[in-house]
Amino acid sequence: MTDPSNAADLSLFDALYNCRAMRRLKPDEVPEELLIKLIDAANQAPSGSNAQRARWIVVRDAEQRAKLAALNKTAVEAYVGPSAGRPAELPHHSAEKRGRMLASVMWQAEHMAEIPALVIACFQFDEAVDAAAASRAGGSIWPGVQNLLLAARALGLGAAPTTLGLADRTAAKQVLGLPDDMEAFCLIPVGYPMGRFGPVTRLPVEETMRWDRWQ
Ligand SMILES: Cc1cc2nc3c(=O)[nH]c(=O)nc-3n(C[C@H](O)[C@H](O)[C@H](O)COP(=O)(O)O)c2cc1C
Repeated sequence: MTDPSNAADLSLFDALYNCRAMRRLKPDEVPEELLIKLIDAANQAPSGSNAQRARWIVVRDAEQRAKLAALNKTAVEAYVGPSAGRPAELPHHSAEKRGRMLASVMWQAEHMAEIPALVIACFQFDEAVDAAAASRAGGSIWPGVQNLLLAARALGLGAAPTTLGLADRTAAKQVLGLPDDMEAFCLIPVGYPMGRFGPVTRLPVEETMRWDRWQ
């Protein structure tokens, strides 16, 4: 029997079932070779037509982190604001659990600049892109993001996929120095977790799966 709290013991399935969004992260530096290992793991993901257009920026510079943290904070404040239209609870996610999730989102909004590495998943297009074209490329980015999250879990690093900080596309592109043919899709803060890893809570497979056809 493996112990999912011990990274060295993790099987792929342990990692899958214990890869929670870890938002409260220590400011301690993450060794460069581990950051490279995460991106290399992300690089192993599939992409449409094997085009391999995913590109990764690992932001460690303090000023750059502060700029991205400011963008994230503005977006989080709008997201938690009274008119955001966010559901207070969901059938599978009680108000209490959502409250805890929100508290961790708020913690990260306050502390993102102190998190040692902010990984940005980007896509390189052939030409300048509009928002609609950009949204279609997601299918070739998110498998890499999930690879990265699983690799982080296996290495005992905390991480979470986030998009709020990139909502102001123009501002994010400017901070990241992205040319017109590149878009940022996901910002993944990475660091050593303050809390403990634990299992994810998901809908039972009986609710999300049918054999052969839906109705
Ligand atoms: C497309 C996408 C966008 C997300 N954006 C954010 C975000 O902007 N900020 C954040 O704190 N978490 C973000 N998350 C993380 C989700 O809130 C998290 O994966 C979900 O609540 C499940 O959490 P758990 O794995 O800990 O159960 C995002 C996740 C996905 C897949």
